[in-house]
Amino acid sequence: MDAAELLRALDDEHARGRAALTDATTIDALEAAQVTVLGRKSAFGQLQRALGTLPDGDRREVGARVNAIRADLVETLEARRMELGAAAEQEQLAADRIDITLPGRRPRPGSLHPLTLVEREIVDIFISLGFRVVGGPEIEDDWHNFQALNIAPDHPARTMKDSLYVAIPGHPELLLRTETSAAQIRTMQSQPPPVYIVSPGRVYRRETADATHLPVFTQVECLVVDEGITFAHLKGTLEVMAKALFGERRRIRLGPAYFPFVEPGAEVGVSCFRCDGVGCSVCGNGWIELLGAGMVHPTVLENCGYDAERYTGFAFGLGVERVALLRYAIPDMRVLIEGDVRFLEQFGVTP
Ligand code: FA5
Repeated sequence: MDAAELLRALDDEHARGRAALTDATTIDALEAAQVTVLGRKSAFGQLQRALGTLPDGDRREVGARVNAIRADLVETLEARRMELGAAAEQEQLAADRIDITLPGRRPRPGSLHPLTLVEREIVDIFISLGFRVVGGPEIEDDWHNFQALNIAPDHPARTMKDSLYVAIPGHPELLLRTETSAAQIRTMQSQPPPVYIVSPGRVYRRETADATHLPVFTQVECLVVDEGITFAHLKGTLEVMAKALFGERRRIRLGPAYFPFVEPGAEVGVSCFRCDGVGCSVCGNGWIELLGAGMVHPTVLENCGYDAERYTGFAFGLGVERVALLRYAIPDMRVLIEGDVRFLEQFGVTP
């Protein structure tokens, strides 16, 4: 091949190479075109090697042409690479585009649990009567939960069957409180009479859940100690509370009951919201047991250092879940702890 033929062939390869590079539509295709246009085995590479067969005089002129063509092809390659890179970036941006005109999703506000609503309602009744609200620990010791409340060591309520003991090494006598009555003891130990308190809180018993029982439930304890307190004060307070919670229509009834820390003791029931005292599957005998009550036993007053000759008192412990059943006509207590939003959102009161 003489110089003229080589120059023609170089011009042809130049045109073909430019076309191959600018026709590539993806980065991958461009990389492949680079190999076929500029690689060692490319036609252009072979022509470059043919330079060596030319006489000295021609070699300089054709060599300069080879270099100019190579420089142009490399420039074309880089220009195309930039174009394709920019196009890929635009495509990615288009795919990632966020439509800022879409309305946002509002987080749904929660609402107060029906048990919280009922507990607050009960406590508010007593605040309006001038009572103080006190708390108490959910893990109690044997003395506050049993002994001080006049519950003898052989009382059945103490057995492992009824109570949940807490396994803390070195403290064999700790248990989850079985009733809020322990708050009576802690209050009397911390202040002299007169006492007018309510104490809401959770209590724990080894019980199987059913329509009217839970193993973890809520009580509101009420304690009054003053001079001249009688059973009539207890009954009057219960009537005020029952009317405020259930209205005039619903009836309450008192029956005798035994609790070691009161004498006499009473059980208070409210006529069932479904059958109104006739008897149905919710209540059994027409009445829903609401609370235990009575006149504070003199031994309990003395256990707390109070003068039982001078002071008398009454106390009661009310089941908050039972009040919720009655207030909202809920036939099964278990829905109160299942956390089903469809049930809970009916109460719709935001905190
Ligand atoms: C007591 O717990 C006594 N401490 C009440 C008391 C206080 C009596 C002060 C005298 C003086 P009792 O175990 O009956 O009593 O429970 C009181 C109330 O808690 C019951 O009337 C009922 O409304 C509720 N209750 C009892 N057991 C459960 C349970 N497993 N699930 C839901 N509520 C319950």
